[in-house]
Amino acid sequence: MFRKFYPAEMADSSYDIDYEALYKKGYRGLIYDIDNTLVEHGADANEQVIELFKRLNAMGFRICLLSNNKAPRVRRFYKGVSIKGVKLHYIFDAHKPVTKNYRKAMLLMRTTKKNTLFIGDQLFTDVYGANLAGIRSVLVKPINKREEIQIVLKRKLEKVVLHFYKRDRLKKLKQSNVILIGFMGCGKSTVGKKLAEKLGFEFLDTDALIEEKIGCSISEIFATKGEEYFRDLESMVLKGLLKSAKRYVIATGGGMPVRPENQKYMRKLGIVLYLSATPETIIRHLQGDTTRPLLQTPDKEETIRKRLVERRFIYQMVAHRVVKVDGRTADEIVENIEESV
Ligand code: S3P
Repeated sequence: MFRKFYPAEMADSSYDIDYEALYKKGYRGLIYDIDNTLVEHGADANEQVIELFKRLNAMGFRICLLSNNKAPRVRRFYKGVSIKGVKLHYIFDAHKPVTKNYRKAMLLMRTTKKNTLFIGDQLFTDVYGANLAGIRSVLVKPINKREEIQIVLKRKLEKVVLHFYKRDRLKKLKQSNVILIGFMGCGKSTVGKKLAEKLGFEFLDTDALIEEKIGCSISEIFATKGEEYFRDLESMVLKGLLKSAKRYVIATGGGMPVRPENQKYMRKLGIVLYLSATPETIIRHLQGDTTRPLLQTPDKEETIRKRLVERRFIYQMVAHRVVKVDGRTADEIVENIEESV
C-alpha cells in the first residue's frame, strides 16, 4: 500500500552519499530538494553545499534544484552557489509530487530517467514525485529537527511509511546472503558479526575459512606458496559458498573482488555491500597490524593509499550498495545497512 512512497535508498545526509560510485554506475544528473536537504529550512547556500556542488561539477554531474518554495527563496539560494562558479539549474514552485517539473529538470540537464537521481528529505512530495516520474530516489534525514506544524504532522505519517519500508527491506535482506567487500581494515568482520546477529544469519569470514582449510595463517600461505596460490584458494572458497551458503553474512578478503570471475560469483551469491572507508580510517584501524602480508612494506601508509586508489573503482562496480563507514560505530553501520539495502 505504501510502496509508492518508498525511496530506493536512504542516507544520513546529502553530504554522505558516494557520488563517485554513482558516477561510475552511470548516473549523470542530480536533482536536489533544497530546504532541509541541502541546508536548514530557508537558509542561504553555505560553504558545505558550494564545496559539494563544485566537486560534483568537476566529476561531470549536472545539477538541478527542484523546490516547492517560491521564486525569491530559490533564486537567492541558486545565486549563492552560482556566484561561486557552480553550474546548475533551478526550478521553483515545483508542485512536487507533480511529475511535470521532474521531467523539466531532466530536460534542463539533458539527462534521462535512467541516469538521473533525486535527493530529498520528504516522502510524500520529493520521493513520491520521483517515483511517479520513474527516477531513482534517495531519502535523506532532514537537516533541522524543528519544523513547521504542517510538516511535523507529515513527519508522523512518514514514520508510519518508513516503518513498513524498513520492515520490507529487512525481509528482502533476509532472503539472501549478504557479502561484505572493502579494503583491509574497513571493518568487514566486526560489522559482519553484528549484522549476522541482527539478521539471525550465520557469519563467515573467507580468510578464516581458508586458514582453517589449509591449516596455516594467510601470512604463511603468502610466504610459502605465493599470492596467486592464495587467490586460487579464494576463488575456490567462493565457488563452494555459491553451492552451499544460505542466510550467511560473509566477510571477504580485501582482494577477493579483484578477479573478474569472483565479481560474478559474489553478485550471484547475494547482496554485495562495499564498506567504504577513507585511507585515514584504514590507516588508523591497521595501526600496529602485522597480519596483512601485502602491507608489510617500508611505507605502509603509502601502500594503503596506492592500493585503495587501484581498488576503489572495483569495489564500487561490484557492490550493489556502498556503505560509508568513516566516523561511525559498527552498530551505526549495521543500522545504516538495514535502512538502506
Ligand atoms: C588481502 C586482504 C586480507 C587477506 C589477504 C589479502 C587483500 O583480508 O585476504 O591479506 O588483498 O586486500 P582482509 O581484507 O580481511 O584484511
